[in-house]
Amino acid sequence: MATMDSLIGLVNRIQRACTALGDFGGDDQAFSSLWDALPSVAVVGGQSSGKSSVLESIVGRDFLPRGSGIVTRRPLVLQLQQIEEGQQEYAEFGHLPQRHFTDFSLVRKEIQDETDRITGKTKQISPVPIHLSIYSPYVVNLTLIDLPGLTKVAIEGQPESIAQDIEDMVRSYVEKEVDPSGERTFGVLTKLDLMDKGTNALDVLEGRSYRLQHPWVGIVNRSQLDINKNIDMIDARRNEREYFATSPDYAHLASKMGSEYLAKLLSGHLESVIRARIPSITSLINKSIDELESELDHLGRPIAVDAGAQLYTILELCRAFDRIFKEHLDGGRPGGDR
Ligand code: GDP
Ligand code: NA
Ligand code: MG
Repeated sequence: MATMDSLIGLVNRIQRACTALGDFGGDDQAFSSLWDALPSVAVVGGQSSGKSSVLESIVGRDFLPRGSGIVTRRPLVLQLQQIEEGQQEYAEFGHLPQRHFTDFSLVRKEIQDETDRITGKTKQISPVPIHLSIYSPYVVNLTLIDLPGLTKVAIEGQPESIAQDIEDMVRSYVEKEVDPSGERTFGVLTKLDLMDKGTNALDVLEGRSYRLQHPWVGIVNRSQLDINKNIDMIDARRNEREYFATSPDYAHLASKMGSEYLAKLLSGHLESVIRARIPSITSLINKSIDELESELDHLGRPIAVDAGAQLYTILELCRAFDRIFKEHLDGGRPGGDR
């Protein structure tokens, strides 16, 4: 029986293939709907609220440009792909498909350089995303999107419209302005360690201040001082665990706080979203398989050019999805009706 994990891995691969096809110039309607049918996580919040830090903790690696004066200026679409224990972890950019990055400080530099390539060395932002995949034994399969932070005022070198521009960009990624049922929103409260002594955030974390459908998760990321001192991710996580375990205010919530718990929560939620969407994804894929086959026939096969190879890869992925999905259903429903 196929596990839900392998299904999510496959969904991630199809999503990547669709992106590649899009970049390649394909604008197939079925593929953009397929992309839309797959869930991803976008982080939304004020500038310097700790968005990039939260994503780094989920990934478990230092690789994002982050800090007090540094802002995310292009959306970063981050695909996490779990690989087998013992395998070398690496990162790969959509714009540099042949290059495997094993040094994550070079990943950070490439994000900065690639941002500058589009925006120039200015404070301008751009809605053109950077695609980055991380293959690691230590991640859960997720697609994450790091977005520029919401701001109120333009600074030197930014157009007056910056606040609205960022809001529009964020909204285009989040799709809806509001999420009234709270179904798609996870509340994450950062910087708990910076609160004034004698105060705490229990009203928020226990859902009394802002009620969301999902429980709030409190986070303690690395401070700027920690970053300057090169505190690594492993120590940062240990510090965070210790913070919650020993905190007089939060110890009773410790098992439901922190970056690791957030990663598990998100991954579990996405599993259930994908599960619910499987029937519509499958019908899209069946439609795509038909379209791809006629497209391949039209191109004439065997074909050596990139277009044929791309379509063929996607076709294979779609077939694999279909097969694994069926195995999964059969495994999940003994004596099921297929
Ligand atoms: P972003 O602009 O929302 O992406 O925020 P960053 O992740 O770049 O963080 C901005 C600054 O806040 C950095 O200097 C971080 O070290 C610091 N920071 C983020 N989260 C926390 C936290 O939980 N505690 C503390 N003390 N500092 C944090
Ligand atoms: Na920042
Ligand atoms: Mg950021």
